[in-house]
Amino acid sequence: SADDGYRLWLKYDLIKNEAQRKQYATALQSIVSGSSTPMIGSATKELQLGLQGLLGKQVQVQITASGKAGKIILKIDPAEKLANDEGYHLYKANSDFIISAKTDKGLLYGSFAFLRHIQTGQSLAQLDASSSPKIQLRMLNHWDNTNGSIERGYAGASLWKWYELPENLDPRYTDYARANASIGINGTVVNNVNASARFLTPEYLPKVQALAGVFRPYGIKIFLSINSAAPKILGGLATSDPLDPKVRQWWVDKTKEIYKAIPDFGGFLVKANSEGEPGPQDYGRSHADGANMLAEALAPFGGVVIWRAFVYKADPNGDRFKAAYEEFKPLDGTFKENALIQVKNGPIDFQPREPFSPLFGAMPKTPLALEFQITQEYLGFSTNFVYLAPLFKECLESDTYVKGKGSTVAKVVDGTLHGYEKTAMAGVANTGSDRNWTGHMIGQANWYAFGRLAWDHMLTSEAIAQEWTRMTFTQDEKAVAIITDLLLNSRENYVNFTTPLGLHHIMGEGLHFGPQPWLARSARPDWTAVYYHRADANGIGFDRTKTGSNALAQYAPEVQAQWSDPETCPLPYLLWFHHVAWDKKLSSGRTLWDELCHRYYEGAESVVQMQKDWAKVEPAVDPELFADVAGRLAAQRREALWWRDACVLYFQEFSKMPIPAPYQKPD
Ligand code: GCU
Repeated sequence: SADDGYRLWLKYDLIKNEAQRKQYATALQSIVSGSSTPMIGSATKELQLGLQGLLGKQVQVQITASGKAGKIILKIDPAEKLANDEGYHLYKANSDFIISAKTDKGLLYGSFAFLRHIQTGQSLAQLDASSSPKIQLRMLNHWDNTNGSIERGYAGASLWKWYELPENLDPRYTDYARANASIGINGTVVNNVNASARFLTPEYLPKVQALAGVFRPYGIKIFLSINSAAPKILGGLATSDPLDPKVRQWWVDKTKEIYKAIPDFGGFLVKANSEGEPGPQDYGRSHADGANMLAEALAPFGGVVIWRAFVYKADPNGDRFKAAYEEFKPLDGTFKENALIQVKNGPIDFQPREPFSPLFGAMPKTPLALEFQITQEYLGFSTNFVYLAPLFKECLESDTYVKGKGSTVAKVVDGTLHGYEKTAMAGVANTGSDRNWTGHMIGQANWYAFGRLAWDHMLTSEAIAQEWTRMTFTQDEKAVAIITDLLLNSRENYVNFTTPLGLHHIMGEGLHFGPQPWLARSARPDWTAVYYHRADANGIGFDRTKTGSNALAQYAPEVQAQWSDPETCPLPYLLWFHHVAWDKKLSSGRTLWDELCHRYYEGAESVVQMQKDWAKVEPAVDPELFADVAGRLAAQRREALWWRDACVLYFQEFSKMPIPAPYQKPD
């Protein structure tokens, strides 16, 4: 059947393998829901819907566990040995199947896991699987505006139809909640971090309240990004100084008003004194002053404030790399208990490859939330086939060494390294009003992978890729293998034809689309491309060692040792930390110039290989989905050539060296 991608990974198409389908159908006869709560209601509804589709038969819901074998029993069991309240345990008991958890929320996650088990074609015979999330707050950050536009959104307009809310609830809100619950996402910030104060008005709060009502039965709490100047803008106060008693009272009152409408409201996300947004520094106060004021207002209701560390100084002679660390590390230990600091994965801004942010490991007394970008602002919008799990994993597995070997970013963020009481991971959403939610079908994999890794960062990129492919595209073994390989290599391919060897931030101005390495002037001086690549007659790259900005000093000595010597610095990070001569011989055996060309040319060529590999899966994939991905790959090929030629020809003006022989032929 034709499928335009709307159903995401929750497809529930009839299982094609008849023998397998019959096995499941015989084994699964009824659903026993036990007590009824809204979340158990969502769980049983989903099980019914899923099994109806997969098995082609109706599976009845009953209240009590009587009747014939083959029951799927949802069971709240406080004695269940699980790490926390959200975990679940799936197992077989005689001829029944138990979905067990300490809470109804655990049952919701367990039900989706049970369905996933069947969707991915696994046997029920020995079923015994437990899982609990490693991170408490697993959230999406939408950068959506009041007018329905999305900052850095590449899949249409906002999902939230503000003008129709609160009266009209688009059924899509429920499907959004189902998709998130299926991967364990339990929080969502519905508006842009560059926040309009209007979201806090009596005009918008009922709309937010209405969305919260749809998300609640799926275990998702709603959050708002706030504008720090709201006391002035909305309250008519003379100041928004966080130490002013009237300002503090304004936030206390506003917070009360919100909780009256949304008793389980999650809290505030704040971008302050960053890229022109207002904040406490406008009044000579610190980020901690600002965060603590909001934390105090939220504390009586159990809410949290999530304060972003994405700040920089626009100093053309400084190193933007160092800004967040310099600003926030001295504040460690000064934040209230219900405040978290949200740190982007890398020190600059969601580039195709960045070293991990040096803040991870540097703030043992302050819970750090990790922010990834799912939307592909710097990774090819929705024309490029880029699977982001390897990027996410690269950061999570990076070793900060702050407490010796094995002090990974994952262990910082999941709280085990420093004993954080609160833990969180956020992903800047890639969803929009496009029929298939994410523009590129592969964007769905990134939403999926983010959720799965926020739940369990130990999962491998490969396991997630296979799981997603089976649920989304096909169960055909050969096709699954091909698509998995395509996914796993796609990010490195993208790095190669855009920013190889540690180049960064050389994309087009404003839109951030395509290459613009020649950009030398910008409203923000540390936003030009030449600021980052520093190409000159001698070489290319940003010296962040002692002879340069010394940003490396923000890392533990062991990390510095890995990256500070240009002879041994791994090539993916080379130009992040070193200015390297064009004719320098690298560990690859090529000169820097030849290696750079090699990466650009091979990277662009890899897209042709991706097209060939994708063509092989045609018989196994829905024709509309197949055509859509094929079309976007063709666009990606065009963009790859553009990147390659723009960068190679521009950098050649400095290197004055010939393009290596193998690449001196027309395409
Ligand atoms: C990037 C992005 C902005 C966004 C900012 C942020 O700079 O281009 O659109 O507002 O990140 O994360 O706050």
